[in-house]
Amino acid sequence: MRFLTLLLLSLPTLLFSFELIPAVFTPYNSDLTIDYEKIQDYATFLSEKQNITTVFISGTNGESLSLSLSERKQLVDTWAAQTSLKIIVMVSAESIVDSISLSSYVSKVSSSNPNIIGIAAMSPSFFKPSSAQDLIDYLSPIASASPNLDFRYYHIPSMTGLTISMTSFQTLAQSQIKNFKGIKYTDTDLFTLRKCVRNANEGVTHYFGKDEILITGIQTGAKSAVGSTYNFMGPLGYEIVTSFFDNDFETATEKQDGIVEVVEAWGDLEGIPAQKAIMEMVGMDLGRGVRPPLRSLTDDEYSELEQSLKEIGFLD
Ligand SMILES: *[C@@H]1O[C@H](CO)[C@@H](O)[C@H](O)[C@H]1NC(C)=O
Repeated sequence: MRFLTLLLLSLPTLLFSFELIPAVFTPYNSDLTIDYEKIQDYATFLSEKQNITTVFISGTNGESLSLSLSERKQLVDTWAAQTSLKIIVMVSAESIVDSISLSSYVSKVSSSNPNIIGIAAMSPSFFKPSSAQDLIDYLSPIASASPNLDFRYYHIPSMTGLTISMTSFQTLAQSQIKNFKGIKYTDTDLFTLRKCVRNANEGVTHYFGKDEILITGIQTGAKSAVGSTYNFMGPLGYEIVTSFFDNDFETATEKQDGIVEVVEAWGDLEGIPAQKAIMEMVGMDLGRGVRPPLRSLTDDEYSELEQSLKEIGFLD
C-alpha cells in the first residue's frame, strides 16, 4: 500500500520526459572572431546552473548564417569536445553545397563522439522552395548526408518567410526522408502544430520554439522545447513543465508570465544581443558582440536593460 502511494505520487514525474533545449549563442572575441575557448565554460554553466542536458548549436541564436562553413565545422568540433552536454547541430546554410558538407562533417564527427545526437536544417530564405515537395528535395540530400543521426526540419517562418503547409510537408517527409524524426516548430500556429502531432508516425516528435507560450506548446503535444531563454531561465522553464504535468495550471501560467516579463524587459532591442547581455548579467560572459548586420547593445541600452530586469526581480 505504501509502495502504491509512493508510486502514484511519483507518477507525474515518471510520466513526462519533456526536455528544455537552449539554442546557444556564439561567443565572440572583441574583433568578432569566435571565442572557442569559452565553450566548455558555457557548457558547464548550462549544465550546472541551468539544469540543461542538451543544446541546439549553430541555429538562429548562434547566428549560423553569419558564420563561415569552416567556423561552423570548428564549432561542431568544440561543442562535441565539451564534456557536459548532448548536442544537436543545425547544419543548413543558404547554399545546399555547404549544407550537405556540414551535415556529412557532423555525421563523421558523431561516429566517434556520442555527444552528437541529431541534426536539423531550415529552408534557405533568399531563393525559397515554392512547394512542400521542393522543400523536401532541398532537405533530402542534407538529411541523408547524416544517415546515422536523427534529422529534424527547423520551421521558422518569421525568418524564412515560407508559407508551405507543415502538415503536407510532414506527410511527405515521413515517407521520403528516412531519418526524419520531426519538426522544430518555431511558430504560434498551434492548430497546425496539433495536426502535425496527430499525424506523426511513431518516433516523430515536435520541438516547440516559442518560449513565451511554452505552456501551450506542451498542451498541444510538443515533446521538447528549443529556445533562447532556457540559456538563463532553465529552472523557471522547468517549473512550467513540472507544474503542467502536475496539473497545476495556475502555477504553470504564473511561471510562464515570469518568462514573458523578461522578454518584455528587452522590448524593442534586438533579441540576440539583448540576451547575450543577459548572459553576462547572470555570470556567463560570452562577449557582447554580434556580427553585422546585427549590432550589440550600447552601454546605455545595457544599463537600461539591467535596470528593467532588476525592477522585476530577475537579477536578485
Ligand atoms: C531539472 O531537469 C529535470 C529534467 O531533466 C526536471 O525533471 C527537474 O524538475 C529540473 N529541476 C530544476 C530544479 O529545474
